[in-house]
Amino acid sequence: MGRGAFVVFEGCDKSGKSTQCRLLVDYLNSLGKKTELWRFPERSTAIGQIINGYITKKDELHDKAVHLMFSANRWELVPLIKEKIASGVTLVVDRYAYSGVAFTSAKGYDMLWCKNCDIGLPRPDAVYYMNIDVEDASVRGDYGCERYEVSDFQKKVQECFQSLKEPSWNVIDAGESIDNIHKILCESVLKTLAECENTLLSE
Ligand code: TMP
Ligand code: MG
Repeated sequence: MGRGAFVVFEGCDKSGKSTQCRLLVDYLNSLGKKTELWRFPERSTAIGQIINGYITKKDELHDKAVHLMFSANRWELVPLIKEKIASGVTLVVDRYAYSGVAFTSAKGYDMLWCKNCDIGLPRPDAVYYMNIDVEDASVRGDYGCERYEVSDFQKKVQECFQSLKEPSWNVIDAGESIDNIHKILCESVLKTLAECENTLLSE
């Protein structure tokens, strides 16, 4: 049996990542492909609890301290990520290191500094960037509840994502209907699964 794939979704808040991740995981499992839905920040760990306090505006933390917390939250789960993927499980991950860099550099911090603590993390096999008009996102769901859900800041985050974007990223028009996006993603992710089965996860 080949390894599982490591599939990451990125984008601004309320760009539809979580909805699409859920639909995709259900679809892959329905085909008999063992798949798990993951998210970062993973708020259930001790580090995740600190991040949650900050994101929900209950606690204050220095920008650089919280940046390192977000990164540590990924590092603490690296052994499990590797174990799952080696055992043939595909991980669909709602946000990863690109969010870490985009959100902190949007505050004005040097992008290289922001990237440093994530160097060496497992590299995703595929990245889907949910591209949405920030104003359209701001009228979705319970927008505004969490710390970063402010349009002016989200615009800066989007610019940072644009400069982080690698040629291999799949840019998705997140203004499309849920069904249309889901169909596009299913087709694309099945190709990724087939392609990475016999390759190694890289850093
Ligand atoms: P969520 O909306 O996906 O639950 O994530 C909560 C917030 O955390 C979101 O506004 C993006 C932000 N974030 C960072 O600032 N750095 C990170 O490394 C990650 C993963 C998320
Ligand atoms: Mg959010």
